[in-house]
Formats: sequence, C-alpha cells, structure tokens
Amino acid sequence: MNKLALITGSKGGIGSAISSRLVENGYRLIATYYTGNYECAKEWFEEKGFTEEQVRLFEIDVTNTQECHDKLEALQEEEGTFDLVVNNAGITRDGQFKKMAPDAWFDVINTNLNSVYNVTQPLFAAMCEKGNCRIINISSVNGQKGQFGQTNYSAAKAGMIGFTKALAAEGARYGVTANVIAPGYTGTPMVEAMKEEVLDSIKNTIPLRRLAKPEEIAAAVAYLASDDASYITGETVAINGGLYMA
Ligand code: CAA
Repeated sequence: MNKLALITGSKGGIGSAISSRLVENGYRLIATYYTGNYECAKEWFEEKGFTEEQVRLFEIDVTNTQECHDKLEALQEEEGTFDLVVNNAGITRDGQFKKMAPDAWFDVINTNLNSVYNVTQPLFAAMCEKGNCRIINISSVNGQKGQFGQTNYSAAKAGMIGFTKALAAEGARYGVTANVIAPGYTGTPMVEAMKEEVLDSIKNTIPLRRLAKPEEIAAAVAYLASDDASYITGETVAINGGLYMA
C-alpha cells in the first residue's frame, strides 16, 4: 500500500518540487491549497500531470485552528493515518521592524508558525499510534541567522526549529521523527519577488554563488522521509550554499 503524506503550500516554489518528488517516490499525497484557490490548484495539478490516485487537492486555511482540527480529523478518518506531514506553507511580509504594521507581523506568524500547530496537532496522536512516521518542517536560513527586514519571518522560522526539537522528543518513543529543513535563498517566486539589487547583493554573499534549486530541497525531504533516515530526529538540515554554517 502507498504511504500517505500531506503537504501544505503544495504548489509554491519549494512545495511543488517536494510534491513531485513524493509522488515519484510512490506516496499518495494530500496537497493542501488555500481557501478559494481551487482554480489555481487544479491548474497546477493538471500541469504536473498527477492522477487522482496520486494527489488529492485539499482546501484548508492553515491559519484557522478550528477548521484545521475539523477538516483534518475527517480527512484522517477517510484516508487513514499519515506517514508523513510536511509543513511547508509560508509567506513573507518583509519590512524594517520600526515600520512593521501589526498585519505584517501576525500574518507571517499565523501562516508560517501557528499553521504548524494547526496542521500537525490533529494528526500527531494517530501517527504515534502507527509508529515509524515523519514530520518535516520547512524553515529557512533566516530562522537560523536572522535577516534585516524579516523580524516576523525569522521569528516564525526559528520557532519552527524549537517546535521540531520538542516534538522530536515526544515522538521518539513511538519512532515518529521530526526534523527541519532550512533552505537558503532558493529559485522560487518568493525570492524572485525581491528587489533585483537586494537579491544580487545577497547572492554575492553566498559562497556557492547561486540560488538553491527547489529540487535540491525536495531531495532532502525525500531522504528524511525515507527509512534510511529513521535514526535522525530533532535535526536541522541546512541547504544554503554555505551562506550560514551553524
Ligand atoms: N543589513 C544592514 N542594513 C541594511 C541591510 C542589511 N542586510 N539591508 C538594508 N539595510 C539598510 C540600507 O543600507 C538602508 O540604509 P540607509 O537608509 O542608511 O541608506 C536601509 O537599511 C533601508 O534599506 P532599503 O532601501 O532596502 O529599505 P526598504 O525599506 O526599501 O526595504 C527591505 C527594506 C524590504 C527589508 C529590503 O531591505 C529587503 O527586501 N531586504 C531583504 C529581505 C530578505 O532577505 N528577504 C528574503 C525574502 S525570500 C525568503 O524569505 C525565503 C527564505 O527563506 C530565504
């Protein structure tokens, strides 16, 4: 039987590459998309050439605690217990802290960090009961090192790292591992949306002198999800071209 995985932010730059890789590796994938974005999600599904057996599109607002609880409990009853959850949904609202409006703070904390509670909590107990399951949280180099203009994003992404270590401690006795991947600047619409001169100046500080490819992040997810990685837990895998060496 195929292993069952869920990914949030499935059709984003990194999410899309992870989704393809998991499908390639034989998972049945529940790919979440944001409320009201069905057309866009469907287009992505068709472009990718997925079948309904491979991927089920699933509408959910990851910032809504009650909705996540209700919809994910029902989903679990229908599909079974998840083997893998990838918390990948994330947004940026960059700006200097002295000018940061409340929305820029709370939108980022809700989407990038509170979503991790909202999505993982309803699924975690059953995963412990099943055993040998995986939680993989997509953080960022900027959660490790901090970044000018990203107090909100860095706080959320650093929060994911602390959360993951604590969850790893709780899941260990059941063989449920929890790990973080911390991508550096990756060739995605999120990074391409930055001002050209700002991005160029950042690229110049990356020892490997290029952006990461989304597929390079997806490969690490595939590894951490595999049986080969069953002894790795509470770890942060940095994929940042040498930009930050923790
Ligand atoms: N360190 C110190 N000072 C800096 C700085 C830095 N890294 N970057 C900018 N400054 C200074 C500038 O020198 C400038 O100083 P002066 O006023 O004395 O000239 C001042 O801050 C204002 O700079 P900007 O003109 O850039 O200010 P702005 O308000 O137009 O823009 C910003 C601010 C939106 C935060 C912009 O600096 C920016 O986009 N920074 C990059 C943020 C970033 O890295 N985002 C990553 C997005 S992708 C992502 O998040 C994915 C991932 O996980 C990696």
